[in-house]
Amino acid sequence: MAFDVPRNFSGESVRLSLPDDVNQPPFFVGFEDQTIEAGQNWSLVVRPQDNDGGATGLLGGRLPEGMRSDDNFDGTRTLRWQPLQPALGDHLITFTAIDSVDSSLTVTETITLTVVLPEDLSTIPNPGPTIDAIGNFNIRPGDTLVMRVKAVDANGTVPQLEILNPPSDSTFDVFPLDEGVRVLRWTPTEANLGERTFNFRATDADDPSLQFESSATLGIVDPSRYVRPGERLRDLAEARNFLFGYAHLLEWYAQPDADLYADTAAAEFNILSTENSMKMGYIIPERGVYRWEGSQREIDFAKENNIVVHGHPLIWYTVLPPWILQSEVGERESIMNTFIDDVVSRYADDVAIWDVVNEALEEDGTFRNSVWFEAMGEDYIDQAFFRARANDPDGILLYNDFNVSYNGPKSDAMYTLLQRMLADGVPVDGVGFQMHLASSFDRFDEVAANFQRFADLGLDVYVTELDVVMEPGDNEDDQAAVFSDAVATCLAQPACKATQIWGFTDRYTWLRGRDPLVLDHDYQPKPSYGALQNVLQ
Ligand code: XIL
Repeated sequence: MAFDVPRNFSGESVRLSLPDDVNQPPFFVGFEDQTIEAGQNWSLVVRPQDNDGGATGLLGGRLPEGMRSDDNFDGTRTLRWQPLQPALGDHLITFTAIDSVDSSLTVTETITLTVVLPEDLSTIPNPGPTIDAIGNFNIRPGDTLVMRVKAVDANGTVPQLEILNPPSDSTFDVFPLDEGVRVLRWTPTEANLGERTFNFRATDADDPSLQFESSATLGIVDPSRYVRPGERLRDLAEARNFLFGYAHLLEWYAQPDADLYADTAAAEFNILSTENSMKMGYIIPERGVYRWEGSQREIDFAKENNIVVHGHPLIWYTVLPPWILQSEVGERESIMNTFIDDVVSRYADDVAIWDVVNEALEEDGTFRNSVWFEAMGEDYIDQAFFRARANDPDGILLYNDFNVSYNGPKSDAMYTLLQRMLADGVPVDGVGFQMHLASSFDRFDEVAANFQRFADLGLDVYVTELDVVMEPGDNEDDQAAVFSDAVATCLAQPACKATQIWGFTDRYTWLRGRDPLVLDHDYQPKPSYGALQNVLQ
């Protein structure tokens, strides 16, 4: 007997010739399309079988929200689900059975589960409302609290939401963009110093006896708590004609501690990157629908505070809206060019530096197969730079990537790429080294040499996204040493024009739980902050 079976997930297959009684691939029993009524307690045992007797392995894909997949420890899994109204429609479930003897023998099957309404709607249970968790925050007297509270119901209805103990001069208004959300706005005074707990109640839209209560505690603290010792980082940087900055939080103005966030940023930094507000996925969530408010407000904030704006990123492979992922290959070039025209022409006077292309390379130095690469090959990179230059003749145009500050195939590939671009007259002015590092990182000799070889090409060097995650066994002093060495390496390189950290308080970081920044969750300085003061001195 001979048959083809998939060998691995890249689709190569191998032709096997085996006696009929040896090692046949596994198959599924009873794994078939099903219709489920909303509210029903549904379950299904996923049972791979192998006629050779060996127990098979099982791999599942993504499951619909709320579905459990329990391991029965006998080679099967039980799926359990009680879909409610929001789940109406089709759901695909995929499992792969793996032969116990030869793991290259696999069988993948997909079934469709269709959720329909039952005839008697009263059989669908009403789970009642809940309120999304709200963190605890500190603000200062005079700051305006902006606290979003969201009530949800798993059956898709929108609960009523109220605050049980509002401060006298506060408002609790509906939030225009999101049903179920209300915003508590309040500006406490000195007289309010201390803790204040707010209690919220959500009431079910259909059955008022179903209620849910939750609370959030606000500290109104003396402003002296947020006076940091020593000099501000931006003053130290400015004294040496250096740019030292951060990535600005998306829609910070809708955070409870927006004023504290903004005051801290304005005091400490003289350059900001738009952390998320200029990404395609944010600016054009749907074809033809533009959201400029996020980036515009960051630019306004920067202007008011004399902060240089670093526009990030124009062309990237991810944080793309679904409509671009689903676009035809043939329209991508025009989508890319239009986006660059829209953003760069709008902000050319406000943005000094652009990350024109972000993360085009893989770890092994090959080009990443993005929607852009798929459509235009390597040429998309050159085109993006020409297009940005056409819209902003004075902008500083960067290529930006991660894991490139130390030696390796990726850094070498970036070197070859930039060398080639310069030879071809592509308008690239500098290179951004993201430098998302960990507390054990110590390859700064390589970083210095690497900065030098890019500088020797005539490019400026930027440290664009520095942060340092804590590793087990390391302490905050280890982290501080990495921050300090990174900035020192930039300062020692004449071509290195700026260092930016990717956020500043551990309260707001993309690496949640790993505390990679220089102020703690309550904006208190960590050793890393002092280390930055020292190195910038
Ligand atoms: C991250 C943001 O910090 C997150 O908030 C967002 O969810 C995803 O993107 N390299 C980049 C940045 O160039 O844009 C990424 O920022 C971090 C890695």
